[in-house]
Amino acid sequence: MDAAVLFDQVKNEAQAAFAAAANVADVEAVRIAFLSRGSGRMNDCDEAFRAAPGPDKRTLGPLYNAVKEGVKLAFEQARDRVAATESDTPIDLTLPGQARRTGSIHPISQVGAEVEAVFQSMGYEVIDGPHVELDEFNFGRLNIPADHPARDHQDTFWLSNGKLLRTHTSAVQSRTYPLTAPPFRRVVVGKVFRYEAVDATHDNTFTQVEGFAVDRDLTVAHLVGTIRTMIARILRRDDVEVRLRPSYFPFVEPGFEVDVRSSSAPEGSRFRNWVELLGCGMIHASVLEQGGIDPTQWQGFAFGMGLERLAMIRHGIQDIRVFNGADLRSLRQFGS
Ligand code: FA5
Repeated sequence: MDAAVLFDQVKNEAQAAFAAAANVADVEAVRIAFLSRGSGRMNDCDEAFRAAPGPDKRTLGPLYNAVKEGVKLAFEQARDRVAATESDTPIDLTLPGQARRTGSIHPISQVGAEVEAVFQSMGYEVIDGPHVELDEFNFGRLNIPADHPARDHQDTFWLSNGKLLRTHTSAVQSRTYPLTAPPFRRVVVGKVFRYEAVDATHDNTFTQVEGFAVDRDLTVAHLVGTIRTMIARILRRDDVEVRLRPSYFPFVEPGFEVDVRSSSAPEGSRFRNWVELLGCGMIHASVLEQGGIDPTQWQGFAFGMGLERLAMIRHGIQDIRVFNGADLRSLRQFGS
């Protein structure tokens, strides 16, 4: 075919095809058909011009340029036309939006913050201590020397550097006694770790609340009154019975365990029977002494409570593994 005829034909075809394109996809398909490097219709024109004998190139040159310009212009006009139409497409404001899911505070953090607030209202200072602890604070200064059988009650995660993961928040008692002179009241909410088999009421990583007060003339009556106040204010119901049993902890004398049960808990709930909530007692004289406090002048009481147990009773949760299980379907039920 004569090159000039070919140029004319390609230009006309391209202009018609670009003019007929109705949307972005159509324009792109026509662009590929005509302008794609090495295979489009413009390629035929390039080859025809290149193959033309030298003397003809002088007359063909302007025609060749005209087809190139014409096809390019047709493409640009079509591209701008469809872009304008597409941005004019109305937005349907009645379509439902995409809900943004907000997170919620973990139930243990919620109850922990409430416990802190209850104790602050009773004049307690909220303090904290490290998870990685020294033997001396976790055991030694709490009357639990290396060969003491009480160490078996709290199986310990030992670290290779001789330190340990604290097994109870009582470590914060011994750690903070020397900080300021009595009187003081302190509360700690924090994680503790025990090398223990996990079941519905025991985890290897759980949360304790340690409360302790040192003052003149403190008695078991103050201890019991404090614990009852906390339970009533957190559980916010009047059907919870509280029972005190004598118990042994090397760092208190006398020592007790406190159990709770709820007569109105649903049939089959473990909280219809007594559930151990905390250990407590009057701080042992030698523990005060090792903390630099004169036991002839000062008395103290202390308790250590499993916060998961309290949260389980509060929310009717039957299995402690819910808390660290990371199943968001369970955790989202508690809101924020
Ligand atoms: C102690 O840890 C003592 N430090 C408590 C204490 C403090 C006594 C101050 C006297 C004075 P015990 O090992 O019993 O004691 O634990 C206290 C509470 O933590 C228990 O009553 C229970 O509510 C909770 N608890 C204990 N082990 C676990 C566990 N594996 N999983 C969940 N909660 C636990």
